[in-house]
Amino acid sequence: GKGRHRHFMAKEIEEQPEVVAHTLTTYLNPSEGTVNLPETGIDFSNISRLTISACGTAYLAGLISKYWFETLARLPVEIDIASELRYRDVPYQKGEAALFVSQSGETADTLAAMRHAAEAGVTVGAVVNVTQSTMAREADAVFPIKAGPEIGVASTKAFTCQLATLACLAIAAGRARGYVTPEREAELCESLLKLPRLMNDVLAHAEEFDRLGTLLQPARDVLYLGRGVSFPMALEGALKLKEISYIHAEGYAAGELKHGPIALVDEHVPVIVIAPRDAHFEKTVSNMHEVMARGGKCLLLATEKGLEAAKTDEPLLGSFAMPDVDPLFSPLIYALPIQLLAYHTAVHKGTDVDQPRNLAKSVTVE
Ligand code: F6R
Repeated sequence: GKGRHRHFMAKEIEEQPEVVAHTLTTYLNPSEGTVNLPETGIDFSNISRLTISACGTAYLAGLISKYWFETLARLPVEIDIASELRYRDVPYQKGEAALFVSQSGETADTLAAMRHAAEAGVTVGAVVNVTQSTMAREADAVFPIKAGPEIGVASTKAFTCQLATLACLAIAAGRARGYVTPEREAELCESLLKLPRLMNDVLAHAEEFDRLGTLLQPARDVLYLGRGVSFPMALEGALKLKEISYIHAEGYAAGELKHGPIALVDEHVPVIVIAPRDAHFEKTVSNMHEVMARGGKCLLLATEKGLEAAKTDEPLLGSFAMPDVDPLFSPLIYALPIQLLAYHTAVHKGTDVDQPRNLAKSVTVE
């Protein structure tokens, strides 16, 4: 049940430090600082390309992992939403591999895209939560995300557990391809193993989102901005907000803003800026200042130092101080404020958080 929580979503958000720790220790050995994949895995060492596909939030976890596979394993990644990939005429080659990400393991489009790749002779891996699912049964390799049952329709803990699993896969791929040394592997494992504690640090201040939620509640439209791995996070923030609060929201790559979406900015459109301390920080903050110069009201998610560095005369609509984290893995931590913001906004609006209108937990029809 929900226990002391008002909604399953609140419970599942809070469970993340524990379930992510469980996922991580499934795939990595803390004392050795190594990643260990199941026996029947994917041989990343000599594939020419990795295809990743999924729907919704699972797709966004896949999109984040594209950055990881490229950086850590120098592996070319093709990624598309499953409802498109399944109908594309993809020139698959034998000896390629593909990963399909799905909480339920039953999503019709993802399953069809997986079958299509398998028929083309591609080795297919399923990154799933439900290990008795159709996708788990049919895949060549199964990577359980170990999130435990997710009841809330809006995916939260499955997302961060998908990320934890995909991070381990990217490290393993990097090692198999000779780009991740044993020293680097140990460092990366250490960074990952720190995440559950950092998640707890964020959750300790979760009540701040009750107030931040009141700031978004009156909005008709909300924009989310991020660069690098924070770009898919911007998409995830917008998806989460629209599905449970019914507020129209869009995520954009911060650098794409001036190519169109900045025309939407006025004092009525809150802009959520996701800016961890990484190589993109200054650029993202300068995009935020462009928004503010046009009357836009910004809510900044950044570290204490980042919030200080981003200061201008113009006050922010709101901010939340985030812990310092390995920039590569920041999405696992920034997922929390994104989820809490959507959750509290929806609670203030009085919508049915666990059962949003028109949505089903598992989409088994096309
Ligand atoms: C969003 C959400 C959906 C699912 C999508 C895929 O919060 O939950 O976008 O992520 O329907 O579902 P699975 O992962 O079961 O394939």
